[in-house]
Amino acid sequence: MKGSDLDLHSRGQAGFVDDLPEPEGLLHAAVLPSSVAHGTVKRLDTTKAKRCRGVRAVLTAADIPGINQIGTLVDDEPLLAEQTVDFAGQPVALVLAESEAAARAALAGIELEVEELPAVLDPRRARELGELIVPPRTFCLGEVEAVWEQCQVVVEGTVESGSQEHLYLETQGSLALPGERGSVKVISSTQSPTGVQRVIARILGVAMHRVEVDVTRLGGAFGGKEDQATAWAALAALGAVRCRAPVKLVLHRQEDMVYTGKRHPYCSDYRIGVGADGKVLAYQVEFYQNAGAAADLSPAILERTLFHCTGSYFVPNVKATAYCCRTNLLPNTAFRGFGGPQGMFVIEAAVFKAAAALGVSPAELQEKNLLREADTFPYGMAATRCSAPICWQEVKSRYDYEEARARVDRFNSTHRLLKKGLALMPVCFGISFTNTVLNQGAALVHVYTDGSLSVSTGAVEMGQGVKYKILEVAARVFSIDRSRVKVESTSTLRVANTSPTAASTGADLNGKATEIACKAILERLKQVAAEELKQKDPGKVEIRDEQLYCDGKQTNLNWDRLIPRVYSRRVNLSAQAHYATPGIYFDKAEEKGEPFAYHAYGTALCEVTVDCLRGTYEVDAVKVVHDLGPSLVPQVDLGQAEGGIVQGIGWLTLEEVLYSEEGRLLTNTLSTYKVPDIYHTPKELEVHFLENTENPLGVFHSKAIGEPPLMYGIGVYYALLAAIQAFCPQADLPVAAPMTPERLLMTLYGDRLAELKGFKTGSRRTVPQ
Ligand code: MOS
Repeated sequence: MKGSDLDLHSRGQAGFVDDLPEPEGLLHAAVLPSSVAHGTVKRLDTTKAKRCRGVRAVLTAADIPGINQIGTLVDDEPLLAEQTVDFAGQPVALVLAESEAAARAALAGIELEVEELPAVLDPRRARELGELIVPPRTFCLGEVEAVWEQCQVVVEGTVESGSQEHLYLETQGSLALPGERGSVKVISSTQSPTGVQRVIARILGVAMHRVEVDVTRLGGAFGGKEDQATAWAALAALGAVRCRAPVKLVLHRQEDMVYTGKRHPYCSDYRIGVGADGKVLAYQVEFYQNAGAAADLSPAILERTLFHCTGSYFVPNVKATAYCCRTNLLPNTAFRGFGGPQGMFVIEAAVFKAAAALGVSPAELQEKNLLREADTFPYGMAATRCSAPICWQEVKSRYDYEEARARVDRFNSTHRLLKKGLALMPVCFGISFTNTVLNQGAALVHVYTDGSLSVSTGAVEMGQGVKYKILEVAARVFSIDRSRVKVESTSTLRVANTSPTAASTGADLNGKATEIACKAILERLKQVAAEELKQKDPGKVEIRDEQLYCDGKQTNLNWDRLIPRVYSRRVNLSAQAHYATPGIYFDKAEEKGEPFAYHAYGTALCEVTVDCLRGTYEVDAVKVVHDLGPSLVPQVDLGQAEGGIVQGIGWLTLEEVLYSEEGRLLTNTLSTYKVPDIYHTPKELEVHFLENTENPLGVFHSKAIGEPPLMYGIGVYYALLAAIQAFCPQADLPVAAPMTPERLLMTLYGDRLAELKGFKTGSRRTVPQ
């Protein structure tokens, strides 16, 4: 796709922060982290480090001219530690030196003495200690207490889901360039240019107009750079202003893993009640979110867990409570799905267990309770244009579910040690930031006199192809060749007050703003064209493939001839536009409202084969029908869907973040942290985009794609559970992710292995998350 970043990526020509040409006098920064998860700083002496070769400065909290605070939702996170350290990996001091090697070597010269305090790593323990970052929140619908007695079965359980390392290919990094009068320009690998700008202004004690943040592209982010690019940008800016020199701070892979927060691990308790007709009557759930040592975005992420607590189902009586628990882990943060996956994973556990108690298949129960048009979500919104049943039925027919079911049953009855598992996974995901204020985007469009276009928006390109979608929008509005459009870097000078590119909304919000700006220019072009063509009604003028038509008839004007005439008539060829999602609101006192512009729907059919002797398994197939509306750029959307699915599978199967009992990250390299590779990718991966759907609230009726497909990975977990169930039908299966081969083996044989002398179940060095 010419003109897209994909084109540059495939040629190895896309540049990232660390690839920028190094300016004269560049200093390199390195960060000293706390190695202790919780403690009191007794002594911090930088004298020796300052004397190291090539070192220009060593900075601590005392060197911050403004406010030492980087918290976004809650002011609870210093940029550099002061009297206490609250997690292992917390930045304590910053070295600035003439080379990267000199900066890192000098870290050893910093003398830091910390008196250790007990570290709390378990969210339930944190709650017992009263360590909640924000007060608990409860979403209610109907009255659960009134209906338990009417249920034919009521089952309860506990669910654990694990953390997840973002593992973006480009690690966190920034280049800061000092300017006049205390200003600074920062090139940052961030999803949130304005967030970085705001924090740097606060750290430096200057107005936001002194800080420019510019983002060309990110080598991946997945939520990990929504809030957590900020610290590295602020440290680089601090160094640049203090030393009056350009400063580069790019984390090494291991530093990135050890210093930055990840997906939130959750543990949850649920209770579900089902009537004799198979309808779920009541669902009660408590979520314990392991937020880590600082709020970061945790309260917002927890809110989305509540929004998605009933998954793709209608439940008339719901009570869902969420606890945001402060522990001494790394501050956990946004990760594709933003708490939604954690919520959906739990209701699928409840449905799985309730189905077993009723003696029916989970699919039967899922289908009976699937969301239908006008069903109410626990937050009061009604499902509209609800394609959940259509996607579900389309999966069953397109991929011949009944035949697959029969084939799997045959396989299981003829194999003793190999078992297959099948699961259907419906996904319903709300599109919009749950924080209503963030649902705005802006664009700045210039048409130059040669007919080429420059488009700036608030959207950050992070490999998701948003720039190519913006380009597509501009080219479609004007009906011009795509090669005429250039989508620029994301700069806070050109587009102010940007929302983070997150919540799958980047293309929607900024694409809409681009559409509005382009249409404003188009109206002016048509006005001029009408005058040139001696036509009174500009509404009769039309551009099709760069050719101008009047009243449906081709004219002698085309794009190349029109634009210079517009300029010579002194008509404005630029436009700035703003878009705010209409009609959305949320009342936090009532916990009711219409928080989402629309929902994305789809269903996956997942099949696995488990080797019940070894605990190993293969993902045979994930086959999806997804309602995307009419896609803006189908290749981009397919890539997002496939990547999301594999990342979701990784979260629930292979990827295991482990901390020591003292709260130090153990899985801090790619030899100890395993992400899916080509061999772990489903052998068959099919994504079919539902046809003939539309979405009036999307750009050209399209739907957001970034996050929803990740949750199809949940189906793989329950397919594994189904295979285990086929091997040991009586087992009351614990639901804990990730289902690594080790955990799968322990699920099959844990009791028997524990009887063997000296064998301990579970690893001593791991802690419950
Ligand atoms: Mo995304 S997880 O909303 O940055």
